[in-house]
This record gives sequence, structure tokens and C-alpha cells, in this order.
Amino acid sequence: ELSEQDVVQRIYELKAQLGSRLLILGHHYQQDQVIQFADLTGDSFLLSRQAAECKDAQYIVFLGVNFMAETADILTSLWQKVFIPDINAGCIMADMAEACQVRRCWEVLQRSFPGEVIPITYVNSSAEIKAFCGENGGLTCTSSSADGAFHWALEQDMKVLFVPDEHLGRNTAFKAGIDPEEMAVWDRQRNRLVGPENPRVILWNGYCPVHQEFSPDSISAVRKKHPGVRVVVHPECSCETVQAADEAGSTEYIIDCVRTSPAGSVWAVGTEINLVQRLSLEHGDKKIISLDETVKPCPDMLKISPRNLLRCLEGLLGDRTENIVAVDSKTAGWARVALQRMLSIR
Ligand code: 13P
Ligand code: SF4
Repeated sequence: ELSEQDVVQRIYELKAQLGSRLLILGHHYQQDQVIQFADLTGDSFLLSRQAAECKDAQYIVFLGVNFMAETADILTSLWQKVFIPDINAGCIMADMAEACQVRRCWEVLQRSFPGEVIPITYVNSSAEIKAFCGENGGLTCTSSSADGAFHWALEQDMKVLFVPDEHLGRNTAFKAGIDPEEMAVWDRQRNRLVGPENPRVILWNGYCPVHQEFSPDSISAVRKKHPGVRVVVHPECSCETVQAADEAGSTEYIIDCVRTSPAGSVWAVGTEINLVQRLSLEHGDKKIISLDETVKPCPDMLKISPRNLLRCLEGLLGDRTENIVAVDSKTAGWARVALQRMLSIR
């Protein structure tokens, strides 16, 4: 078996051999030992745009989770192939919404509010749900394009069905001026709407098990321990946590907050630990700590390793198909409509 050092060297050799035929995209939550191989890094929005703009690479390898690789496949041409080093790297939140459940919810909403609802899905969802949104006049969004997506729908005087992250949906609707009293929750386990009879926003009750762990209590504790600390959290955290923080935004936004702050700043960051640790290493003149060190890393992001990246690159050269992420053309067609709407309005 190859040593870790040999694995790293072999990956760099294969990258050199493939040259511009290969593009490696890496999400900020990847481990340092993996992200070092990425040609481009970003949050979900930036990576979607980079995939859409990639016109020359034949092979795109996604260091991230499955829905991101699916999104890249939908946004690239047929002759371009998208790979993920571990096909089982999913997303617990995305799995909380199945297309058949969303359709059932939609039928109920259409009976109560015919033609009055726009479906918006967070990109953390299956291609089938993205296609459902595209086909029904809706769109996708990421954490950095959620504001734009909500404004787009609300300006048309429509209600919003937001799937699958209840927290991102509530945080975004709240920011857009919607009263929490006007938000209902679709209970996916019981198939029923809970809340006001005539809501303006309907939230799916899914959540990210990583971000949901950051609490207002952890913010009080960090403020007590580090006077003058600034707290920045991801909007997948609960509304109470976002309200108690100083800033909230996507991973790219969080990076910007830290980067543009003056030397000596102290930041407590409520997001995936791999990004927090990298920020701390990259900004030696500032103090960057995790908002809550007991929060575990995302188990799916951790599935990508240098070893399975090497196997993926060797497989791609040997025409093996086990790491290919391919969305069927009918689903991809409508999902592309939903994704392109997002890319055009942000
Ligand atoms: P962003 O990349 O949009 O910040 O999303 C974070 C996330 O949880 C991805 O899985
Ligand atoms: Fe899904 Fe949360 Fe992991 Fe992102 S961090 S992939 S939302 S479980």
C-alpha cells in the first residue's frame, strides 16, 4: 500500500498529466489534506458558477458532497464528466426531503392556495427536487443567494414554499421582513401544515445537524470568555442563534468577514470546523475560534480523502465509472431551469 506521502505525490503527477482536461473544485468544508488539490475553492454558489463557466475541462472532480457534484453535472455540457471521490458522501439535510414528499406537500398547498406559491429549494437537495422547482415556476438558492431568491418570489406577491432547511428559510424570510407569525411549517413526518391558516412562507422541517448544534447559549458563553469577540454564524443555524450573533452568512461571507477585519480582531465562528481551523491558520494576526468546540465535523464532507481522490483519478483515466455523478437528462433539464434562474437573479 502507498504511503500518505506517495499518495500526495501521485495525485500531483496525475494532475500534471491531465493538465487542463481536469478541473478540481473544492468546498470550504473539506479537510486541508484534501483541499490542497483543488484548482478552485468556494461556497456552494461560487462552485456552481464555476462549474457553469467551465468550458474546457473534460473531467470535473468535486471535493464536496453529492448534491454539489450533481449540480455541477447539471450545469456542464454532455461531453464533460463529473466525478466525486466517494459516491456515498451525501448530505443529511438533503436526505430530509424526498421528491415524493415534496409533491404530496405541493398537492395540499395547491388545493388551499392554487397558483399562489413559488417553490424554492436550497441546493442541498436532490436533482429531482430541483427539477420539481424548475417545472413549477420556482428556483434553487444557496445560502449566499437565498435573499435574492426570496425577494424574487415575494416581489411577485407569491407565497414561498422553502425546502429543505427550516432555519435558512426562516432566517431569510425574517430578513425579508416577514413576520414569524406569517410562517408555517410543513411537518414532513405527519404530512401536515402547522401554523397560521394563510401563511406567506411555508418552511420544510429539515435541518443541518452540524449547524443546528450552535446555540444562543454558546454565544453567551463565548462573549463572557472573550470580551470584545465578534460572532459570525452560518444561516443554517437556528433563528435564535442568528439573532444572537453579530453577523450571519454563507461560508464565503464568513471568510470575507474575517479577511477584512483589522489585525487583532477576535472572531467566534459558527460553522464547520475544517473551515474554522483553516481561517485560524491563515490569519495568524487575528484570533479565530470555533463558537462551540463540541460540535462535530460534517461526517459526509469527511468522507473525501487523498486516497479516494487518487483512486478516483486513476479510475477516470482507466474509464471506470464508479465515481461518475450523472443526472438523467429529463431531470437535468428542469433542474437546470431552476439553477439558471438562481444564477441569473443573484
Ligand atoms: P454554503 O457553501 O452555501 O455556505 O453552504 C454550506 C453547506 O452546508 C454546504 O453543505
Ligand atoms: Fe449537509 Fe450540513 Fe454536511 Fe452541509 S454541513 S453537507 S448541510 S450535513
